[in-house]
Amino acid sequence: MSRTLFVTTALPYANGSFHIGHIMEYIQADIWVRAMRMAGHTVHFVGADDTHGAPIMLKAEAEGITPQALVARYGAERPQYLNGFHIEFDHWHSTDSPENVELSQDIYRKLRAAGLTETRQVEQFFDPVKGMFLADRYILGECPKCHAKDQYGDSCEVCGAVYAPTDLIDPYSTLTGARPVLKSSEHFFFKLSDPRCVEYLQGWTTGENAQGNKRLQPEMLAKTREWLGHGDGTQANLGDWDISRDAPYFGIDIPDAPGKYFYVWLDAPIGYLASLKAYCDKKGMDFDALLDPNGSTEQVHFIGKDIVYFHALFWPAMLKFAGRKTPDQVNVHGFITVSGEKMSKSRGTGISPLRYLDIGMNPEWLRYYIAAKLNARVEDLDFNPDDFIARVNSDLVGKYINIASRAANFISKYFDGALHYGADQAILQAQWAGAAQTVRADLEAREFGRAIREIMAHADRINQAFDAAQPWLIAKGLATADETQRLALQDICSNALAGFKALSVMLAPILPTLARRVASELFGLDQDFVWTDAGVLPTRINPFKHLMQRVEPAMLDALFEPPPEPPAPAVVPGGEPVADTISIDDFSKVDLRVARIITCAHVDGSTKLLRLTLDVGEGRHRNVFSGIKSAFEPEQLVGRLTVMVANLAPRKMKFGISEGMVLAASHADATVDAGIYLLEPTSGAQPGMRIH
Ligand code: 2FM
Ligand code: ZN
Repeated sequence: MSRTLFVTTALPYANGSFHIGHIMEYIQADIWVRAMRMAGHTVHFVGADDTHGAPIMLKAEAEGITPQALVARYGAERPQYLNGFHIEFDHWHSTDSPENVELSQDIYRKLRAAGLTETRQVEQFFDPVKGMFLADRYILGECPKCHAKDQYGDSCEVCGAVYAPTDLIDPYSTLTGARPVLKSSEHFFFKLSDPRCVEYLQGWTTGENAQGNKRLQPEMLAKTREWLGHGDGTQANLGDWDISRDAPYFGIDIPDAPGKYFYVWLDAPIGYLASLKAYCDKKGMDFDALLDPNGSTEQVHFIGKDIVYFHALFWPAMLKFAGRKTPDQVNVHGFITVSGEKMSKSRGTGISPLRYLDIGMNPEWLRYYIAAKLNARVEDLDFNPDDFIARVNSDLVGKYINIASRAANFISKYFDGALHYGADQAILQAQWAGAAQTVRADLEAREFGRAIREIMAHADRINQAFDAAQPWLIAKGLATADETQRLALQDICSNALAGFKALSVMLAPILPTLARRVASELFGLDQDFVWTDAGVLPTRINPFKHLMQRVEPAMLDALFEPPPEPPAPAVVPGGEPVADTISIDDFSKVDLRVARIITCAHVDGSTKLLRLTLDVGEGRHRNVFSGIKSAFEPEQLVGRLTVMVANLAPRKMKFGISEGMVLAASHADATVDAGIYLLEPTSGAQPGMRIH
């Protein structure tokens, strides 16, 4: 029976470029969507930028642009990644859209009418200089337990203690350096602890969808049980959810509450619906009918394991009590590591998806590799360069592509492209149709690795049968061979090519452009493969054209190397020769230290200077004036690390005493304005570390 599916991937924050973790998730979902479409199901596959929240607002502010302009800048980058890796969303939208405003406000109103919202006074840290309530990540201070400096408002990275921001000793705002004050304000809550929500979620998380499938993977069900109780009298452990933020905030207005905005995580998943709605409007489809709560459309979300709480609790409950369709399946994947190293959510891993494409690596290699390592469990996936080379070169090219390149040449050379099967064709057809069914079921169950193992086992068998039959020996004696031998040669090669076609069908969701070429160039078909093509024996082929290159190990080296420097200019860098040679002793007289910029402010009456307070790990802060005003807004620098000359004699300046100097790069010829670039150590450095 043909199904209709609405499929999404997590909406990426619009203040950064895609990293390999995004690409992995999109490839997983894209393979699944293609496999479902090949089965004749209708799939609407949408994405969008997640645009709201304080980080985007503050980043835009620091750059002196509107949040919309910032979002547009990252939005403009998206297609090169998506097209580059053959990820085909039907529509890409934005949470900063009229559809999302309308849907978010509508859902909120329905929840309010159902008695599932309430307001409460909340006391929270407030930055009096910035005039803004501070999320925990914008508050630093001394750990109340181990007294480590500059720890975040929720937990200490040094001793692991967990606490409230109000427990910090000498807290300061990372935005301005100001000491935050406690201030109370009215917040809106979604009453997740309401017995109706708890009961509904206990049923939703443990039950089955209309397809008879579990909505959550077993590991995720176990996780939600920690929050919901086990239905055996165990207490649910759900807090109500604070869904409002005070101005200034980049978000959607809460109806009837001036100055209050929806917390970004309220309107982000609603962005899935907004994107589908915009797509429906564009295509003339009926959005409300498509997502009728009693209709048959299946709603499927692909997400990472870090955002399960939002998707398995808030999201189904919000939809349910707003009278909307609820999710049918939430498919959770693990993180991607590179050679065993965890990636950072903001910086990604050592692999840049664009660099991968720039150095000419085939996007389908990555799709294949990721598929080979994915399964339906919530496990991390490791990208290992040697493993990547082995799987692509030995399996994909060495086993699969090799079948066609060996068999096709005999058929073109001696049989003018015509195939002929000696064995019972019905058996052969049934065999390949059955094999494709198994792989199709694996892909539908998101057991991609298992599917690829099946496919490669078939490829091994085809190659072994080909080798055992030694068609090259028959070909050699063909001039004198009789008709039986000619037919035997044709039969051996035809069998191999029928197998190659079936494997190409099975690989089509994973390698869509390769499969398209195989279908059209080799088998002369004018349509992309569908699952049933696997059991249709080809009758003719066109001459074989080269299909896929092997990976050069040097490409992997290039992938992990920093991008090449621009060519050296003919003149001395910076425009001046370097200074006279010094000895190591001379150098070690300069005590360079890592410093954290605690506060940063304009200096009244100075057009050049900023005043910095620096923590150099001495248990006190230093005051330093620096001539970098033309290049930075003070709030851009607060919280960042830099390098300072810590043993420079204090200097009395017009505005006060400067106790050191921060290091910055600029053109060697001070009259040339080439910008000012503050030195910043790579992450992990701590204030007080010495530069050797
Ligand atoms: O974690 C994130 O990157 C979020 N931007 C995901 C949002 S998913 C959905 F709710 F929009
Ligand atoms: Zn601590």
